[in-house]
Amino acid sequence: MERIVIRGGTPLRGEVAASGAKNAALPIMAASLLAEGPCRLANVPGLRDVRTMTALLESLGVRVVRGPGENLVLDASEATGYRAAYDLVRTMRASVLVLGPLLARFGEAQVSLPGGCAIGARPINLHLKGLDKLGAEITIEEGYVCARSRRLQGARIYLDLPSVTGTMNLMMAASLARGSSLIENAACEPEVAELGTVLGAMGARIEGAGTDHIQIEGVERLGPVDHSVMPDRIETGTFLVAGAVTRGDVTVRGCRPKHLEAVIEKLIEAGADLRIDDDAVRILGPDKLRAADVKTGGYPAFATDMQAQFMASMAIAEGTSVIAETIFENRFMHVAELRRMGADIRVQGNSAVVRGVKGLSGAPVMATDLRASASLILGGLAAEGQTTVSRIYHIDRGYEQIENKLSALGARIWREKDPGSL
Ligand code: EPZ
Repeated sequence: MERIVIRGGTPLRGEVAASGAKNAALPIMAASLLAEGPCRLANVPGLRDVRTMTALLESLGVRVVRGPGENLVLDASEATGYRAAYDLVRTMRASVLVLGPLLARFGEAQVSLPGGCAIGARPINLHLKGLDKLGAEITIEEGYVCARSRRLQGARIYLDLPSVTGTMNLMMAASLARGSSLIENAACEPEVAELGTVLGAMGARIEGAGTDHIQIEGVERLGPVDHSVMPDRIETGTFLVAGAVTRGDVTVRGCRPKHLEAVIEKLIEAGADLRIDDDAVRILGPDKLRAADVKTGGYPAFATDMQAQFMASMAIAEGTSVIAETIFENRFMHVAELRRMGADIRVQGNSAVVRGVKGLSGAPVMATDLRASASLILGGLAAEGQTTVSRIYHIDRGYEQIENKLSALGARIWREKDPGSL
């Protein structure tokens, strides 16, 4: 296994380009199952999760060609598989995104139940309840969701929780159902809106993707699409926090500031100076950040995927902040590791009380999940001394060459073999 080593205390300076969004690329790749013909995707990030989704789609008979650069061509014309195996699904929960497309295209789907993960139980009951409403017969057999339906029927679906991938699965399934569907209390994330745009370009008839009320008129078949994936708002936010915690001057180019309003507002409240263009954000980190409270929520509220990163900045802020996590039940795994670096954080239920300290000290820490590992890297950049982050396979799932991008901004950071690993 590998680890990342950081010698902290250097202000980051310069420009970094945002990569394509992981949480848009994955559903759009799954949507290629719906098309009879080659889908050409550009700006697909080079991530472990993208490679996992590629392997899963290939196991289902989709022909995938990578390159040149960030391009991907996915052709499901000859795909016939409808069983998503456990060994692939267990490594990436987003694999559940093939459930709706397989059922809609082939009338049958067998997708392994994903199992839990570090940040929570992550059930998929809302996905299944919605597919049941669309007329699928669903059973659980030997750890697999087995869904069958000769032809899905449009229906009105109310989501008890605005599940992001739940909304996406149901949009993809309803696109090929007979008749009209309505998804109420749908997730409003930009990645949902992007999937709606892609499905529309494939011939689907969808209104309201990106709002909590999505209207879909089923069609007989969908065609291929050419699409460039939107920039990653969470990667963008992560680099802005890197500028904030190192008293740096960082510009993230090729991003969509509108997708990041809550994070930008909180960084301003914390005393950072932000300059915003149409497709770039520049941050000037203050000598000392100020404490700011955060409560995560569905878009456009503060993204849960930015909670761990923001906590790293509050750990060295002046004052005490309260960070409430309302989406996942166990998304404070980074707290114990930040405390090893000298942070003063106490978890009380779904809130963390962060008392800012003068500074963090480098220490050996362990990544537990994707965004927690980003938080530890940010802590290492701010800390005095050396930090080693082990189990960095977590971070490679969602950040493209993070150490190279940070090095280009002046960070003293590198990847090496973890001598402590077997
Ligand atoms: C998506 O996960 C993202 N993943 C997550 O990003 C993100 O944190 C999350 O949305 C929330 O924004 C992808 O898009 C691939 P949910 P998803 O269904 O869809 C509960 C990252 O770091 N729930 O919106 O799995 C669930 O337990 C990842 O990039 C049910 O109870 O999240 C959670 O508490 C992490 N039943 C809440 O809803 C269901 O059927 C929100 O989950 C589905 C969800």
